[in-house]
Amino acid sequence: MPAIIDYLRVSGDAMYICLCNRITESEIDQAIHNGANSLRELQQTLSLGTNCGCCLEVANGMLQEAAAEKAPCLNELFYAA
Ligand code: FES
Repeated sequence: MPAIIDYLRVSGDAMYICLCNRITESEIDQAIHNGANSLRELQQTLSLGTNCGCCLEVANGMLQEAAAEKAPCLNELFYAA
């Protein structure tokens, strides 16, 4: 039985995260890359989550992953001096 994430993947690397507004994973990635760092900013930029809101949990996970990638590693901070 395919996972829902496989069902949402359409062609190539395009995967819809917000079905209501036809917003893809790559569009969210691009918005985050361009400086969106909260769900509110993604909603303002892309209209993400403005209908049923089912996409907000995934989008929030993408924001958290991006923030973790930007944050310095604790070891780097501890041993920087
Ligand atoms: S899936 Fe995003 S608002 Fe419904």
